[in-house]
This record gives sequence, C-alpha cells and structure tokens, in this order.
Amino acid sequence: MSSQKTPKRYGWNTPVTAVGPQGGAMLRNIKNITSDPLTYLESTWFEFGDVVQFPIPKPATYLISSPEGAREVLVNQHNETSKRTLQYNNLSLVTGEGLLTADTQAWRPRRRMLQPAFHKEMIALSAHHIEAGLAKLDANWAELTTEGPAIIDIDHAMMSLALEITCGALFGVDVDDDVDEITSATLTALHGVVARARNPIALPLFFPTPANLKMRRAIRRLDKAVDAILVSRESNKLPDQAPIRDMLDVLLDPDLETPLTKQQIRDEIATFIVAGHETVASALTWAWHLLVTNPNELQKLKQDPSRAQLVFDESLRMYPPAWVITRRTLSDITIDEKLIPANSLVIVSPWLVHRNPKAWENPNEFMPDRFQSGVPQLGYIPFGAGARLCIGKEMARLEGSQILAHIATHWNIEAIHNSPVPIDASVTLRPTAGMPVRISRLLD
Ligand code: HEM
Repeated sequence: MSSQKTPKRYGWNTPVTAVGPQGGAMLRNIKNITSDPLTYLESTWFEFGDVVQFPIPKPATYLISSPEGAREVLVNQHNETSKRTLQYNNLSLVTGEGLLTADTQAWRPRRRMLQPAFHKEMIALSAHHIEAGLAKLDANWAELTTEGPAIIDIDHAMMSLALEITCGALFGVDVDDDVDEITSATLTALHGVVARARNPIALPLFFPTPANLKMRRAIRRLDKAVDAILVSRESNKLPDQAPIRDMLDVLLDPDLETPLTKQQIRDEIATFIVAGHETVASALTWAWHLLVTNPNELQKLKQDPSRAQLVFDESLRMYPPAWVITRRTLSDITIDEKLIPANSLVIVSPWLVHRNPKAWENPNEFMPDRFQSGVPQLGYIPFGAGARLCIGKEMARLEGSQILAHIATHWNIEAIHNSPVPIDASVTLRPTAGMPVRISRLLD
C-alpha cells in the first residue's frame, strides 16, 4: 500500500474516501492508461489495494478489486446502482436500448421476456448449430491443409465460427456469405465505442469527424445485417400455435402483452450479435493461446475431451473477455468499509478480481484443474453476477467447451513462436495482431 498523502477533496467538492494515485502521477501515465490499460489497472491495484479512488473530480471514480467488493457492487447493491455510465452510454450508440445497456426500468420486463429463449431446452438446441459451424470449419481447414500444415489466424477463425453459431442459434439464419462483413462491422463499431470512451473531447456521433463517419458506416452495416435477418424470418414465419424456435420468435411474438416496436427489435438483434459473438470468440482465442503455450494441458485435453469445460472456465478466469464492468451509484454505498458517494463511477475489473490472491492460489498459473470442484461463488465474475448476470452464460459455456473438445480431438494446433501475445484491451480482450497458429490434420 502507498503511504502517499492524498488531498481531502478533489475538484467539484468531490470527497476523497479512498487511497489512490495523485493527479500529477495519473497525468504522467495518461499514455499508458490508453495504450495498455490492463497494466495500468494492475499496477494501480498493486500500489493502492482493493479499493482505489482515482483523482477525477466528476464523477468520483473508484476501482474495486476484492472478491467481496465485486459481489457487493454487482449483487448486494444492485438496486443502488445503474448502468448509466460512459462505457454503456457509448455502447448504446451501437446497440441502442437493448438488454445489455438498458437501465433498470426498461431492463426488468425485457429480461423477463427474453429469458425463455435461454432455458435449458433452448440452449440444448444450440448444440446443433455448434456442430454445423464446426463441420464448416473442418471443411475449410481440410482445404487449407491438403498440402500439409498451414498457418492460420485462430482469432479470425473463432470470430467467424462464433458469429455463425450466434446467428444460427438465436435468429435461425445462415450468415455464410456475410460473416466477414458482419464481424468486421462489429469490431469497427466496438473500436469506435472504446475510442470515444478514451477521448474526453469526443464529439457527438452526428458530427462528421473521420472517426464518427467510420463508426456510422459500421453501424449502418450492422443495421443491414439486422434487416437481412428480419427479411429471412419474414419468409419463414411460424405457423400459429407452433412452439417457439429461437430468440427471434420471442422478439417477434405478436401475442406479447406489449409487442416490441421495430426499433426495439433492431436494438435487441444488434445487442445479441454484439454481445453474443465477440465475447465467445475472444474467450476461445485466449483458450487456444493458453493451450498451445501449455502443451501438457493440450495433451490432457486431447486424451480426455471432457476436460474442455475446465479449460474454458479457467481461460475465462485468466482472460475475461469483459475485462471491466461499470456502474454508477444511485445512493451512498459502502464497499470494503469505504464510502462510495452517490453518483460515483464504480469500475469492477474481472481481470483484477480473477488475479486476487484472496480468492485464487497461484493466480498467474493456468490450472484448469482448479475448477474440478466446481465454479467458486466468490471472485469469479467472467459473466458478471447478480441480476444482470450474462443471459448467454450457459450457451457460451456449452459453445466454448464443445468447440475446444472438437478441435483438440480433430486437429493439431501449435504455437508458431513463444513470444508474449500483446493484448488489445478493447470492448473485449483481443490479440493486437491476430493469433497465428500452425494447424495440421490429426491422423486417426
Ligand atoms: C464467453 C462469453 C461471454 C462473456 C465473457 C460474457 C460476459 C458478460 C458480462 C460480464 C455481462 C454482464 C455485464 C454487466 O453486468 O454490466 C454480460 C451480459 C450480457 N450478455 Fe454476455 N457474455 C458472454 C456471452 C454471451 C452470449 C453468448 C450472449 C448471447 C447469446 C450474451 C448476451 C448478453 C446479454 C444480452 C447481456 C445483458 C444481460 C442483462 O443485463 O440482462 N453474452 N455478458
């Protein structure tokens, strides 16, 4: 812990209620904060501990890294917090008021309405779409390896696979020809979201700055994808009384008490495209990174594919795709005995919580077996926690484990170098320059 003296108040009369860096030190670090936020967060946590207040006058801004503190913010104080934060306000430029960004009042009935699309039986149905996606991947990789081993970008492969599965399982459409177009539109739009969050003087989206124009173009491409999904369902409508097939049927259900408007339907489809594929792809990409750099674990997985769930859960611990979760406090709350005043921005970073020795032994070691006795209640939040827990959690875990098991038992995958892979901490964690690996067919 630092023994530096902090002032009693920052500007705007904001009280100082927890230790943290001084304004000068933070300004000197501004380049690192934007270029390598994970390292900055980690060093701030090492220096100041589990509750840190940044020297920001408005809103008062806190970083919470203890397992109990994370639970307090996300679970116990759920009713005292809101999602009206810079992170979510910017994301809603892309997803509108969909389930992920909606604030409590609009969110509650929508969650109730969409939950049936994620019941056990519906999730089991997605196994079929996962198999179909994997069959395509096998065919594609077989072509690439006819002459022998090939080098591919596993990150790109996981993005395409996850998008196909999301669109198949949730909307019943085959996006085959448009995969690259939709994934690149999603990435560009999300990069725009992050760039805005990191730029204190970002102009509203209607100003035609080059960055805004690029983001608007990406949003238009996503809108086109949403329209194509709706057109495809129009020609494939459910007969009356037929059981619900997927999430799109729930969204379009004319018997809803209050049927959704066109805009609300668009926002939910965009939300699920964005929330449902890049996260899974990021998790899988880092799982492959961990496996190829820990060949003994890869070998164990090949011999016993039922270990895939342990591997996926542990990868999510070490590389949680959603590496920050933010909330605004609606009233004064107390976290780890520190007062967090109303209207503060609270940042909970799964990246830090998952490395906290209060919850994890040898946190920097890749040890899938630590999940043998189940997923711990405290200190593990890759999918968030509490009422706003990820609605796609079980679908993602099924997808992740099925894909890892299949690829490990059908293909050889090797690292092509041993250097560290730089991380681009954008909306999710991504390798800065893709993740090239060598693949070859595993002879039976
Ligand atoms: C490994 C993959 C995934 C990760 C790491 C992940 C992570 C998260 C996290 C951390 C949250 C909570 C955010 C918060 O509390 O502010 C969340 C919410 C959400 N996720 Fe996921 N997610 C994943 C996969 C999916 C999938 C597959 C879908 C859809 C099929 C999905 C849809 C959503 C939605 C709609 C929400 C908002 C839920 C609500 O507020 O009611 N996610 N996700």
